[in-house]
Amino acid sequence: MPTRTGGDADAPVVGGVIGTETLPQSRDGRRDGEKGRAMTKTNLPRVTIPSLQAMKAAGERITALTAYDYPTARILDEAGIDILLVGDSLGMVVLGYENTIPVTMDDMIHHTKPVARAARRALVIGDMPYFSFHLSEDETIRNASRFLKEGGARGVKIEGASKKRLKLVERLVEAEIPVMGHIGLTPQSIHHLGQFKVRGSAERDARKLVQDGLALEHAGAFAVVLECIPMEVARLITRRLSVPSIGIGAGPWCDGQILVFHDLVGCEGGYLPKFVKKYADFEKTIGDAVANYREDVRTGVFPDDDHSYHLKPDVARALLKKNARG
Ligand code: KIV
Repeated sequence: MPTRTGGDADAPVVGGVIGTETLPQSRDGRRDGEKGRAMTKTNLPRVTIPSLQAMKAAGERITALTAYDYPTARILDEAGIDILLVGDSLGMVVLGYENTIPVTMDDMIHHTKPVARAARRALVIGDMPYFSFHLSEDETIRNASRFLKEGGARGVKIEGASKKRLKLVERLVEAEIPVMGHIGLTPQSIHHLGQFKVRGSAERDARKLVQDGLALEHAGAFAVVLECIPMEVARLITRRLSVPSIGIGAGPWCDGQILVFHDLVGCEGGYLPKFVKKYADFEKTIGDAVANYREDVRTGVFPDDDHSYHLKPDVARALLKKNARG
Protein backbone atom coordinates (compact mmCIF):
# COMPACT_ATOMS: atom_id res chain seq x y z
CA MET A 1 0.00 0.00 0.00
CA PRO A 2 1.54 3.36 -0.95
CA THR A 3 2.16 5.68 1.98
CA ARG A 4 1.35 9.38 2.15
CA THR A 5 4.94 10.19 1.22
CA GLY A 6 4.83 7.93 -1.81
CA GLY A 7 6.95 5.24 -0.19
CA ASP A 8 6.07 1.57 -0.34
CA ALA A 9 4.82 0.21 2.97
CA ASP A 10 6.20 -3.22 2.02
CA ALA A 11 9.64 -1.83 1.21
CA PRO A 12 12.51 -2.71 3.53
CA VAL A 13 12.58 -0.19 6.33
CA VAL A 14 15.33 1.16 8.49
CA GLY A 15 15.39 -0.70 11.75
CA GLY A 16 12.65 -2.93 10.43
CA VAL A 17 9.88 -0.57 11.47
CA ILE A 18 9.50 3.10 10.67
CA GLY A 19 11.07 5.57 8.27
CA THR A 20 9.49 5.48 4.83
CA GLU A 21 10.35 8.94 3.54
CA THR A 22 11.02 8.67 -0.21
CA LEU A 23 14.42 9.57 -1.56
CA PRO A 24 14.87 12.69 -3.65
CA GLN A 25 16.03 12.35 -7.22
CA SER A 26 19.66 13.08 -7.91
CA ARG A 27 20.45 16.37 -9.60
CA ASP A 28 20.59 14.73 -13.04
CA GLY A 29 17.10 13.36 -12.50
CA ARG A 30 18.16 9.74 -12.01
CA ARG A 31 16.97 7.58 -9.19
CA ASP A 32 19.20 5.02 -7.52
CA GLY A 33 19.52 1.86 -9.56
CA GLU A 34 19.05 3.62 -12.89
CA LYS A 35 21.74 3.62 -15.53
CA GLY A 36 25.30 3.92 -14.47
CA ARG A 37 24.71 3.28 -10.83
CA ALA A 38 24.57 -0.03 -9.07
CA MET A 39 21.81 -0.66 -6.56
CA THR A 40 23.13 0.53 -3.24
CA LYS A 41 21.99 0.73 0.33
CA THR A 42 20.82 4.26 -0.49
CA ASN A 43 17.79 2.54 -2.02
CA LEU A 44 16.62 2.06 1.54
CA PRO A 45 14.37 4.70 3.07
CA ARG A 46 15.94 7.67 4.77
CA VAL A 47 17.11 7.22 8.33
CA THR A 48 14.93 9.30 10.64
CA ILE A 49 14.88 9.90 14.35
CA PRO A 50 11.92 7.52 14.81
CA SER A 51 13.73 4.88 12.76
CA LEU A 52 16.77 5.12 15.07
CA GLN A 53 14.43 4.65 17.99
CA ALA A 54 12.97 1.60 16.25
CA MET A 55 16.46 0.20 15.68
CA LYS A 56 17.13 0.39 19.41
CA ALA A 57 13.82 -1.33 20.14
CA ALA A 58 14.60 -4.07 17.61
CA GLY A 59 18.14 -4.54 18.96
CA GLU A 60 19.58 -3.53 15.59
CA ARG A 61 22.91 -1.74 15.95
CA ILE A 62 23.23 1.81 14.62
CA THR A 63 26.28 2.76 12.56
CA ALA A 64 27.67 6.28 12.56
CA LEU A 65 30.80 7.96 11.22
CA THR A 66 32.07 11.50 10.91
CA ALA A 67 32.06 13.13 7.47
CA TYR A 68 33.26 16.56 6.46
CA ASP A 69 33.05 16.63 2.65
CA TYR A 70 30.94 15.56 -0.34
CA PRO A 71 32.87 12.56 -1.75
CA THR A 72 33.40 10.96 1.65
CA ALA A 73 29.77 11.49 2.65
CA ARG A 74 28.64 9.95 -0.65
CA ILE A 75 30.75 6.83 -0.06
CA LEU A 76 29.59 6.45 3.54
CA ASP A 77 25.96 7.01 2.60
CA GLU A 78 26.15 4.42 -0.18
CA ALA A 79 27.80 1.98 2.23
CA GLY A 80 24.71 2.22 4.42
CA ILE A 81 26.06 4.18 7.39
CA ASP A 82 23.03 5.40 9.35
CA ILE A 83 24.32 8.68 10.84
CA LEU A 84 26.86 11.10 9.36
CA LEU A 85 28.13 13.45 12.02
CA VAL A 86 29.80 16.62 10.83
CA GLY A 87 31.88 16.62 13.99
CA ASP A 88 33.85 19.59 15.23
CA SER A 89 36.69 17.04 15.17
CA LEU A 90 37.07 18.49 11.67
CA GLY A 91 39.18 21.16 13.38
CA MET A 92 41.84 18.59 14.22
CA VAL A 93 41.26 16.12 11.40
CA VAL A 94 41.00 18.35 8.33
CA LEU A 95 41.82 21.89 9.43
CA GLY A 96 45.00 20.99 11.31
CA TYR A 97 44.23 22.62 14.68
CA GLU A 98 45.63 21.19 17.91
CA ASN A 99 42.13 20.79 19.37
CA THR A 100 38.50 21.59 18.53
CA ILE A 101 38.39 24.97 20.29
CA PRO A 102 39.14 27.22 17.25
CA VAL A 103 36.36 25.74 15.08
CA THR A 104 33.71 28.34 14.16
CA MET A 105 30.05 28.14 13.19
CA ASP A 106 31.02 29.21 9.67
CA ASP A 107 33.54 26.33 9.44
CA MET A 108 30.81 23.92 10.54
CA ILE A 109 28.18 25.20 8.11
CA HIS A 110 30.72 25.18 5.26
CA HIS A 111 31.39 21.47 5.86
CA THR A 112 27.82 20.47 6.68
CA LYS A 113 26.48 21.67 3.32
CA PRO A 114 28.40 19.21 1.11
CA VAL A 115 27.74 16.33 3.51
CA ALA A 116 23.99 17.03 3.44
CA ARG A 117 24.08 17.30 -0.38
CA ALA A 118 25.68 13.87 -0.58
CA ALA A 119 23.56 12.06 2.01
CA ARG A 120 20.55 10.49 0.37
CA ARG A 121 19.76 8.07 3.18
CA ALA A 122 21.87 8.83 6.25
CA LEU A 123 20.78 11.21 8.99
CA VAL A 124 23.14 14.21 8.95
CA ILE A 125 23.90 15.81 12.31
CA GLY A 126 25.88 19.03 12.80
CA ASP A 127 28.11 19.43 15.84
CA MET A 128 27.70 22.68 17.80
CA PRO A 129 31.27 24.06 18.04
CA TYR A 130 32.85 25.64 21.09
CA PHE A 131 31.24 28.99 21.98
CA SER A 132 28.28 28.55 19.68
CA PHE A 133 26.07 27.74 22.68
CA HIS A 134 27.73 29.49 25.61
CA LEU A 135 26.48 33.06 25.48
CA SER A 136 22.69 32.87 25.53
CA GLU A 137 19.80 30.55 24.79
CA ASP A 138 18.68 32.73 21.89
CA GLU A 139 22.11 32.68 20.30
CA THR A 140 22.27 28.91 20.75
CA ILE A 141 18.96 28.44 18.96
CA ARG A 142 20.01 30.82 16.18
CA ASN A 143 23.29 28.92 15.68
CA ALA A 144 21.62 25.51 15.84
CA SER A 145 18.97 26.58 13.34
CA ARG A 146 21.75 27.48 10.87
CA PHE A 147 22.70 23.79 10.73
CA LEU A 148 19.15 22.96 9.58
CA LYS A 149 18.35 26.03 7.46
CA GLU A 150 21.74 26.63 5.78
CA GLY A 151 23.63 23.38 6.30
CA GLY A 152 20.84 20.94 5.47
CA ALA A 153 21.46 18.86 8.62
CA ARG A 154 18.54 17.25 10.39
CA GLY A 155 19.74 17.67 13.95
CA VAL A 156 22.58 18.97 16.09
CA LYS A 157 24.91 17.50 18.69
CA ILE A 158 25.86 19.40 21.80
CA GLU A 159 28.47 18.44 24.42
CA GLY A 160 27.79 18.28 28.15
CA ALA A 161 24.91 17.84 30.57
CA SER A 162 25.20 20.67 33.09
CA LYS A 163 21.92 22.22 34.30
CA LYS A 164 22.32 25.07 31.81
CA ARG A 165 23.12 22.65 29.00
CA LEU A 166 20.01 20.60 29.77
CA LYS A 167 17.91 23.76 29.61
CA LEU A 168 19.45 24.49 26.22
CA VAL A 169 18.56 21.01 25.01
CA GLU A 170 14.96 21.61 26.09
CA ARG A 171 14.85 24.97 24.28
CA LEU A 172 16.33 23.48 21.11
CA VAL A 173 13.89 20.59 21.08
CA GLU A 174 11.05 23.05 21.67
CA ALA A 175 12.31 24.94 18.60
CA GLU A 176 11.96 21.72 16.54
CA ILE A 177 15.71 21.14 16.48
CA PRO A 178 16.53 17.50 17.23
CA VAL A 179 19.44 17.16 19.66
CA MET A 180 21.99 14.44 20.19
CA GLY A 181 23.65 14.64 23.60
CA HIS A 182 27.34 13.89 24.26
CA ILE A 183 28.81 12.88 27.62
CA GLY A 184 31.95 11.20 28.95
CA LEU A 185 35.01 12.68 27.31
CA THR A 186 33.83 15.99 25.88
CA PRO A 187 36.74 17.37 23.82
CA GLN A 188 35.56 20.99 24.05
CA SER A 189 36.39 20.82 27.79
CA ILE A 190 40.04 19.99 27.01
CA HIS A 191 41.45 22.95 28.97
CA HIS A 192 39.33 22.03 31.96
CA LEU A 193 40.13 18.30 31.71
CA GLY A 194 43.82 18.77 30.98
CA GLN A 195 44.05 15.77 28.68
CA PHE A 196 41.96 13.36 26.64
CA LYS A 197 41.44 10.34 28.89
CA VAL A 198 38.80 7.82 29.98
CA ARG A 199 36.01 9.36 32.06
CA GLY A 200 33.76 7.72 34.66
CA SER A 201 36.25 5.21 36.06
CA ALA A 202 35.49 6.00 39.71
CA GLU A 203 32.13 4.82 41.04
CA ARG A 204 30.93 8.36 41.80
CA ASP A 205 31.85 9.59 38.32
CA ALA A 206 30.19 6.56 36.76
CA ARG A 207 26.96 7.26 38.68
CA LYS A 208 27.10 10.89 37.52
CA LEU A 209 27.39 9.72 33.92
CA VAL A 210 24.28 7.56 34.29
CA GLN A 211 22.40 10.54 35.76
CA ASP A 212 23.63 12.81 32.97
CA GLY A 213 22.51 10.36 30.28
CA LEU A 214 19.05 10.10 31.81
CA ALA A 215 18.82 13.87 32.25
CA LEU A 216 19.63 14.38 28.57
CA GLU A 217 16.93 11.93 27.58
CA HIS A 218 14.53 13.71 29.89
CA ALA A 219 15.44 17.05 28.31
CA GLY A 220 14.47 15.63 24.91
CA ALA A 221 17.72 14.36 23.35
CA PHE A 222 16.99 11.74 20.66
CA ALA A 223 20.31 9.92 21.27
CA VAL A 224 23.34 10.25 23.51
CA VAL A 225 26.98 9.88 22.47
CA LEU A 226 29.09 8.13 25.14
CA GLU A 227 32.75 8.92 24.57
CA CYS A 228 35.68 7.17 26.24
CA ILE A 229 33.99 5.56 29.21
CA PRO A 230 34.36 2.06 30.68
CA MET A 231 32.18 -0.45 28.86
CA GLU A 232 30.36 -1.49 32.04
CA VAL A 233 29.24 2.09 32.58
CA ALA A 234 28.14 2.39 28.94
CA ARG A 235 26.17 -0.84 29.32
CA LEU A 236 24.37 0.49 32.37
CA ILE A 237 23.55 3.78 30.66
CA THR A 238 22.37 1.98 27.52
CA ARG A 239 20.05 -0.24 29.55
CA ARG A 240 18.58 2.70 31.44
CA LEU A 241 18.07 4.94 28.38
CA SER A 242 15.08 4.53 26.15
CA VAL A 243 16.83 6.58 23.42
CA PRO A 244 19.84 5.09 21.61
CA SER A 245 23.35 5.36 23.04
CA ILE A 246 26.07 5.84 20.43
CA GLY A 247 29.47 4.79 21.73
CA ILE A 248 32.99 5.85 20.84
CA GLY A 249 35.51 4.17 23.08
CA ALA A 250 32.59 2.94 25.19
CA GLY A 251 32.61 -0.77 24.44
CA PRO A 252 30.29 -3.16 22.61
CA TRP A 253 27.03 -2.75 24.53
CA CYS A 254 25.99 0.63 23.16
CA ASP A 255 23.05 0.78 20.74
CA GLY A 256 25.35 2.16 18.07
CA GLN A 257 28.96 3.01 17.35
CA ILE A 258 30.65 6.07 15.92
CA LEU A 259 34.27 6.62 14.87
CA VAL A 260 36.13 9.46 13.23
CA PHE A 261 36.25 8.40 9.57
CA HIS A 262 39.90 9.38 9.13
CA ASP A 263 40.94 7.13 12.04
CA LEU A 264 39.01 4.19 10.58
CA VAL A 265 40.75 4.44 7.20
CA GLY A 266 44.23 5.12 8.56
CA CYS A 267 44.58 8.82 7.79
CA GLU A 268 45.36 9.76 11.33
CA GLY A 269 48.91 11.08 11.24
CA GLY A 270 50.44 8.40 13.42
CA TYR A 271 48.37 8.45 16.62
CA LEU A 272 45.36 6.18 17.11
CA PRO A 273 43.46 5.93 20.40
CA LYS A 274 43.04 2.40 21.83
CA PHE A 275 39.36 2.26 20.84
CA VAL A 276 39.96 2.77 17.09
CA LYS A 277 40.12 -0.19 14.75
CA LYS A 278 41.96 0.70 11.55
CA TYR A 279 40.21 -0.83 8.53
CA ALA A 280 42.49 0.57 5.79
CA ASP A 281 45.87 2.17 5.34
CA PHE A 282 44.88 5.34 3.52
CA GLU A 283 48.19 7.11 4.13
CA LYS A 284 50.17 4.25 2.58
CA THR A 285 47.75 3.76 -0.34
CA ILE A 286 47.65 7.47 -1.20
CA GLY A 287 51.37 7.90 -0.50
CA ASP A 288 52.18 5.05 -2.92
CA ALA A 289 49.82 6.42 -5.59
CA VAL A 290 51.36 9.89 -5.42
CA ALA A 291 54.93 8.51 -5.45
CA ASN A 292 54.07 6.45 -8.57
CA TYR A 293 52.55 9.49 -10.28
CA ARG A 294 55.63 11.59 -9.49
CA GLU A 295 57.92 8.90 -10.85
CA ASP A 296 55.84 8.50 -14.04
CA VAL A 297 55.84 12.25 -14.72
CA ARG A 298 59.57 12.57 -14.12
CA THR A 299 60.40 9.62 -16.37
CA GLY A 300 57.91 10.56 -19.11
CA VAL A 301 55.79 7.44 -18.61
CA PHE A 302 52.73 9.60 -17.93
CA PRO A 303 50.84 10.87 -19.85
CA ASP A 304 51.05 8.18 -22.52
CA ASP A 305 49.07 7.74 -25.72
CA ASP A 306 46.08 6.24 -23.89
CA HIS A 307 45.73 9.30 -21.71
CA SER A 308 46.13 11.91 -24.49
CA TYR A 309 43.78 13.38 -27.13
CA HIS A 310 44.45 12.86 -30.84
CA LEU A 311 43.67 14.86 -33.96
CA LYS A 312 42.04 12.95 -36.80
CA PRO A 313 44.90 11.78 -39.12
CA ASP A 314 43.85 14.04 -42.05
CA VAL A 315 43.66 17.13 -39.79
CA ALA A 316 47.02 16.26 -38.27
CA ARG A 317 48.55 15.84 -41.76
CA ALA A 318 47.16 19.17 -42.97
CA LEU A 319 48.35 20.95 -39.85
CA LEU A 320 51.84 19.53 -40.12
CA LYS A 321 52.02 20.36 -43.84
CA LYS A 322 51.05 24.01 -43.22
CA ASN A 323 53.49 24.23 -40.35
CA ALA A 324 56.26 22.77 -42.47
CA ARG A 325 55.61 25.51 -45.09
CA GLY A 326 55.98 28.06 -42.31
O1 KIV B 1 33.49 15.80 16.78
C1 KIV B 1 33.35 14.57 16.68
O2 KIV B 1 33.80 13.95 15.72
C2 KIV B 1 32.63 13.88 17.74
C3 KIV B 1 32.53 12.39 17.66
C4 KIV B 1 33.83 11.76 17.81
C5 KIV B 1 31.51 11.85 18.58
O3 KIV B 1 32.14 14.50 18.61
